[in-house]
Amino acid sequence: MAKTRDYKYELDTPCLTIDIDILEKNIAIMQAAADAAGKNLRPHAKTHKCSQLAKKQLEAGAIGVCAAKVSEAEVLADAGVQGILITGPVVTAQKIERLATILKKDSTIRVVVDHPENVHRLDDAMRGRRLSLDVLLDTDVGLGRTGVLPESALELRDHITHASSLRLKGVQAYAGFVQHIPSYPERKKASLECMQRAAALFRNLKEKERTCTIFSGAGTGTYDIDIQIPELTELQVGSYAVMDAEYLNIGVKDDPARFVDFQPALTLLTTVASVNHPEFVTVDAGLKSLYRHGGSPFVTTPGFTDLRYEWFGDEYGKLICKDGGDLPPLGTVLELVTSHCDPTINLFDCFYITRGEKVVDRWPIDLRGKSQ
Ligand SMILES: Cc1ncc(COP(=O)(O)O)c(C=O)c1O
Repeated sequence: MAKTRDYKYELDTPCLTIDIDILEKNIAIMQAAADAAGKNLRPHAKTHKCSQLAKKQLEAGAIGVCAAKVSEAEVLADAGVQGILITGPVVTAQKIERLATILKKDSTIRVVVDHPENVHRLDDAMRGRRLSLDVLLDTDVGLGRTGVLPESALELRDHITHASSLRLKGVQAYAGFVQHIPSYPERKKASLECMQRAAALFRNLKEKERTCTIFSGAGTGTYDIDIQIPELTELQVGSYAVMDAEYLNIGVKDDPARFVDFQPALTLLTTVASVNHPEFVTVDAGLKSLYRHGGSPFVTTPGFTDLRYEWFGDEYGKLICKDGGDLPPLGTVLELVTSHCDPTINLFDCFYITRGEKVVDRWPIDLRGKSQ
């Protein structure tokens, strides 16, 4: 492997960098918000896919982390991360076996369930292995992706409580469809409406099941909204740590146009690879290094912030000059805020950690490609 350069703009591109000071500040702000409201924080590792970054969140006060998939949980658990909540159902025999293997080593792992058949399969598998598994009932608050429908929630609760190797530990509700509503007042209304339905369910289950103590939910877009719901016990926010263009483009309480609560810690470095046109240059970051959907990536390099990025195929992007301004010369390294952080990060092997313009570390993206 090529030697890591000390100076950020000497890194080979395209590559991802994380500004450590901004990252630490984002982590501290979210932790302080949770602490002030008396809530726990279990950040979602699906965003950064990096056990080293997860450990930073734990050091700052998080009680554990979330994982989207069993394979992510395996890597986190191997790295010594405890308090993992798998936020999607684990349904096949193969995956349940992998979950049981983690559980044997780490009894703090938990998983959500959203269907009686899944409850029975998990129960059979855990009982056969003499294991006991804590589960959260995943309730659909309108996203429709996973989660039991409200009218079937109590029936599912009964299946869980009759499963001898499972313990109902709580409720999960993730309102993914409201997270990026641009208007803060509209987002607040939408989130409170659906999360309060989940809160009512949690109250109901908690009354009957002593073990049911967790109500986990919220994303970055609604962290300061959902935190006001008294029943919510923990936040499972993800993007706030590194941020992206999609989130930065929505309003928050103190700014109707911009998400100013957290700053972009994650940027992508790209090099100008071809300059044969008067109105644009070609850069070396395309679809294989920058996920397409979400917000438009934007340039932060001073002097070039007016350039507009457009995808230009698998390997390339186009930086277009808006109003006859200057184009960067061949070989210039430019810094971009990415469109959507999670799937962009999944395209790289490591983060280069920077302080100012100095490269101070390199963290493997060890959950990269773990989509099973
Ligand atoms: C179930 C679940 N919880 C939490 C999150 C974190 O959301 P965000 O990145 O908006 O903070 C996600 C992200 O998609 C998710 O799918």
